[in-house]
Amino acid sequence: MNASTEELAVSFRLAMRRLAATVTIITTSDGGIRHGMTATAVTSVCADPPSLLFCVNQSASIHAPLKVGSQICINLLKAVHTELSQVFSGKLEGEARFAHGRWDAGDFGVPYLADAQANIFGHVEMLMAYGTHSIYIARVTRAIVHPEVAPLVYQDGVYATARPLPVG
Ligand SMILES: Cc1cc2nc3c(=O)[nH]c(=O)nc-3n(C[C@H](O)[C@H](O)[C@H](O)COP(=O)(O)O)c2cc1C
Repeated sequence: MNASTEELAVSFRLAMRRLAATVTIITTSDGGIRHGMTATAVTSVCADPPSLLFCVNQSASIHAPLKVGSQICINLLKAVHTELSQVFSGKLEGEARFAHGRWDAGDFGVPYLADAQANIFGHVEMLMAYGTHSIYIARVTRAIVHPEVAPLVYQDGVYATARPLPVG
């Protein structure tokens, strides 16, 4: 079965809306200037070495400062962070984004969200351009895990959260 290019574009987008994902904010600091962007295209790569990957649109403001060697933090948002997700996905620009939320400075001045579910720190080891995006592989050097499990999830174009289901 072959779909036309247009049909495929529509069905691909619809299918990806069903890929529920935890909302994160990717942060970095470049020459003392903080950058942050809401992202769901984040996943672990492997535990040995501890590593993850994320994908950033080449048109995003955080794209230029993210280079091999950049120090980064992946902040896993909680269900209470819907407004913060909006702020870091275009509602505000640049440094003004960090006036929202409780941001502290980690190693190398990388901002991290104090009340996230978790903060995963590392540095970019590899990057590859693909289509409109760049794929980054980051080596993880530290992770702070907070006790509350209350993920902010994005699914079918809306915010949601995830709760355990009974098994059996
Ligand atoms: C829930 C959510 C998830 C997103 N995930 C990504 C992502 O994984 N990669 C990406 O490049 N943009 C993603 N975006 C879009 C960017 O956050 C948005 O385009 C941002 O405004 C681009 O950055 P800029 O405004 O600093 O240029 C996402 C937006 C939302 C609301």
